[in-house]
Amino acid sequence: MKRHRILRKNTAIRALVEETRLHASDFIVPLFIIEGKDRTEPITSMPGYFRMTLDKTLKELSAIHTEGLRSVLLFVMVPEQKKDNLGTEAINPHGLMQTSIYAIKDSFPDLLVFSDVALDPYSSFGHDGIVEREKILNDETISVLAEMSVSHAEAGVDFVAPSDMMDGRISAIRKSLEATRHKEVGILSYSAKFASGFYGPFRDALDSAPGFGDKKTYQLNPANIKEAIKETLTDVEEGADIVMVKPALPYLDVIRAVKERVHVPVAAYQVSGEYAMIKAASAQGWLDHDTAVVETLTSIRRAGADCIATYFARDAVRILGL
Ligand code: PBG
Repeated sequence: MKRHRILRKNTAIRALVEETRLHASDFIVPLFIIEGKDRTEPITSMPGYFRMTLDKTLKELSAIHTEGLRSVLLFVMVPEQKKDNLGTEAINPHGLMQTSIYAIKDSFPDLLVFSDVALDPYSSFGHDGIVEREKILNDETISVLAEMSVSHAEAGVDFVAPSDMMDGRISAIRKSLEATRHKEVGILSYSAKFASGFYGPFRDALDSAPGFGDKKTYQLNPANIKEAIKETLTDVEEGADIVMVKPALPYLDVIRAVKERVHVPVAAYQVSGEYAMIKAASAQGWLDHDTAVVETLTSIRRAGADCIATYFARDAVRILGL
């Protein structure tokens, strides 16, 4: 008989042979920033998560920084009257994203700042690209995304994070960054982003749900892993420094497949719906919150993710005493 249980006998031996570990430095903390001052707003479908004005965000960041977290991913909520089809507000040098990047880097120079690059929060149609007769225009969109990336670079961002799934955006962004001498700015590409049912709470948080149709003409079909790999290889070729799979838990096989095929770091995004499920079930007493949080994050790392964007980052640090 093989005595497998010897390695599971007590805490010390289990820790000694543990294959996958989480560290505070693995996590990227998503932040939702709103206009104005001194306001913190709850997000109904994301219990325990908040939208905050920049001043409040900076206060929150002191705590986050003290806890050892070093990476943040910024999203902004744009008021309805500033939205249009071209996403004009996205390239406003004094826009909320640009101001926030600048203020955060100014207060916390050693924090890594990633900025979301896509048109949906700025689009009157709630789509990630420019719309013409209910079609999402690819090439017109990528020029705006490139301009947007340069404006984030000018504000001091470390990495732009294009989440739009247009074709050719990584090379367009890389070219524009080079041309404007922002050579040190990196690209975290949402390379394998699926047309998922798990983004609902995020769209509530930013009021960014598509006004018509869905995102299936640009985001990936959940059934397709080969296509996900193809997209990812293209992004690496075009200059992505880090690639990402999103959502995370329903796509662990994709994370593994991507990890085995690329030589750049692989990130995974544990999205808003994944967060909401655990929060809702544990609020009912149907799941143990802390166990589920650690188990899902560990599984995502085990599948091959080097880093994880997650709304549970602070919970994980608390639970694990990281
Ligand atoms: C849009 C974007 C989405 C998310 C991040 N960027 C939603 C979407 O594609 O509709 C979702 C993140 C989450 O659900 O946590 N560019």
